[in-house]
Amino acid sequence: MAKKLIGDPIDRIDGKQKVTGSARYSADFKQPGMVHGVLVMSTTANGQIQKIDTANTLKLPGVLGVMSHENAPKLAGLDKNKTTEVATDRVLQVFQDNQVHYNNQPIAMVLADTFERAVEGASLVRVTYDAQPPKPELPGPHRRTGGTAANIDKAETPERLPRIDDQVDTTRGDLKKGMSAAKVRVENTYRTPTQTHNALEPHALVSFWEGDKLTIYNATQGVSANQKRVAEIFGIPKENVRVITQYLGGGFGSKGTTFSQSILGPMAARFIGKPVKLVLMREHMFGMVGSRSATVQQLTLGAATDGQFTAITHHSLTQTGDFDDFAEPASTITRMLYACPNLETTHKFIRANIGPTSPMRAPGEAPGVFALECGLDELAYQLQMDPLELRLKNYAETDPHKKLPFTSKSLRECYKQGAERFGWTKRTPQPRSMRDGNYLIGMGMATTVYPVNRGESSAMIRLNVDGTVKLETATQDLGTGTFTIMTQIAADIFGISPDLVTLGAGDTKYPEATNSGGSRTTVTTGSAVTQAAQAVLKKAKKMAYNDKKSPLYAVAEAEIVAEKGRLQVKSDPRKGETFSSLLKRNGGKPLEETMESKAGDEKEKYSMNAFGSVFAEVRVDEVLGEVRITRLLGAIAAGRIINEKTARSQILGGLVWGASMALHEHTVMDPRTNRIMNPNLAEYHVPVNADIQGIDGFFIEEKDEIANPAGVKGIGEIGVVGTVSAIANAIYHATGKRHYDLPITVDKVMV
Ligand code: MOS
Repeated sequence: MAKKLIGDPIDRIDGKQKVTGSARYSADFKQPGMVHGVLVMSTTANGQIQKIDTANTLKLPGVLGVMSHENAPKLAGLDKNKTTEVATDRVLQVFQDNQVHYNNQPIAMVLADTFERAVEGASLVRVTYDAQPPKPELPGPHRRTGGTAANIDKAETPERLPRIDDQVDTTRGDLKKGMSAAKVRVENTYRTPTQTHNALEPHALVSFWEGDKLTIYNATQGVSANQKRVAEIFGIPKENVRVITQYLGGGFGSKGTTFSQSILGPMAARFIGKPVKLVLMREHMFGMVGSRSATVQQLTLGAATDGQFTAITHHSLTQTGDFDDFAEPASTITRMLYACPNLETTHKFIRANIGPTSPMRAPGEAPGVFALECGLDELAYQLQMDPLELRLKNYAETDPHKKLPFTSKSLRECYKQGAERFGWTKRTPQPRSMRDGNYLIGMGMATTVYPVNRGESSAMIRLNVDGTVKLETATQDLGTGTFTIMTQIAADIFGISPDLVTLGAGDTKYPEATNSGGSRTTVTTGSAVTQAAQAVLKKAKKMAYNDKKSPLYAVAEAEIVAEKGRLQVKSDPRKGETFSSLLKRNGGKPLEETMESKAGDEKEKYSMNAFGSVFAEVRVDEVLGEVRITRLLGAIAAGRIINEKTARSQILGGLVWGASMALHEHTVMDPRTNRIMNPNLAEYHVPVNADIQGIDGFFIEEKDEIANPAGVKGIGEIGVVGTVSAIANAIYHATGKRHYDLPITVDKVMV
């Protein structure tokens, strides 16, 4: 059966549960005898705890205990040198010693019979420190006092880049020659601030032990990975840990790593001998559960007078905790986005007394492409060339870094259709040339891109005798629609309505599935579901082939299609029968298959990426410096789109994230104390509905049969990537002023 490239925009299968409030998130679960944990956080950024005075806390009614490094259970499997793909045990602050690495680090947990009593108890804990001055973070856009030269001089080259499986630093061609051949050159330093993930749902877990068996209702982007890490750290078999995430209210990378709370919850349950519910307060989410690193990026673009690139250099400096090794891979996309014979990219980081840095929606790409695409815009002006023309001029037909063909690349179509829909030709190129009364109007564009990442997942498919299908896979749903998509993939293969598919997911009792990170869920778990469903369908076709009583007896597999709950002959749909009648006649047992799915060697032969174009229109108040984004458009080519509705929502959400990064988000640290000064949603700004006006996204049909069995590319992150620069470029077009520092706030636009 030919798969439709843009799938039905069906409603979420869990939509009703969500809008009626019957969907249960991790913090909604209760256990008999459950008590409440509330964290006590450090108030110094660098030092050793001398004393934890809990006397007043323990006097409170209802307080059952205080767990800290003085009395916490020792963890058998904590290995500070161990590294896994996305996480290291080094990022854990789990009360094993008295060292404080950053301000707002968890150092104790108060356990009480009610949440309110635990909160009060936590407020009464008194801690004394032997404190040292904090190692400063990178100089941020709003202050140049931190990140002293001395600290930057200590910048290290990371051993590896997260998610990037090749070199940290790269060169190609002859950079000197390329630079001297350049007739036009752009050379800038771009700065992006620390950003903190702010999922609507806080990190939360309910943990309980039954003997040496542990169950956790956890807000995690990866139940399977979480299960493994927790088991390792507690030194118990994986089978003894069950992790359940029925619903997740966003994660954006901050729930992708097994951070401290996932360990502290079960530790506390063991410590107090009762089920423990631990919910992070909003303020606690600023530090211990990751952040997007600030970056300082030096970018040089050299081009001939016709716009052809002759040389590019991109050097990224990022930061991480003093115990951590996460290096934001900000320069990596520059290696492959445009054809350029001579290039150099590097990555360095500094260590500061800050919480762990971590993936945050499009780690690397989001800050890196901001620099690159703003640089291209500036170059286009120098060349007096249309910014879109410049991108076409340097279009990469093959991946210039990997030197491999793309599995598919419909970026030209994205430029073309995006420009048409947006009305790019209505733009007059001169800055400050478009105006509406007091408002300067600007239009900008950028390329957007995100690689196809594929992990490993398994899925079980059972075709029941009544013609319904059971699908089981451990995968969690970040809130993006994963449960709906997986159901739809299975339904599509059997040619049945999605409501005939029952899904078991969000639980490690089902076949192991990949983390929902790196836009890899549909790519990976969707492929496992595809393969398992196809295997069962094949069995059914074979059964019919061998069954003399079947209308499909001796009909070749390739001639049979599944449609409307029936197997039938492609050229003669009347000839066929329902799954149900076939199975009933053949022993009356379900057909079942579990498939493990992972990438083959296509990765060595091809470069796989989703591409798109983003267009932005802004209105800038000339007097007040206020920027309003009036229109945002994403034109995206990302392989097969399973569900147009949830997919488009993903893109729109990504565009909002881009707007947020361009204009709003900034985690502000006091350089004297390294304490985050805006750890709440009042002062850490994210867009509200009033900040987002016209927003639109659409998909370019793209058939990709090489990338993976599901034929899909990730769409979770691509919406963010180019949007930041499209908006910055629109602001330049409106005002004639370039911004190299994010976020582009009123104070910067006004002057
Ligand atoms: Mo996402 S930042 O890859 O969880």
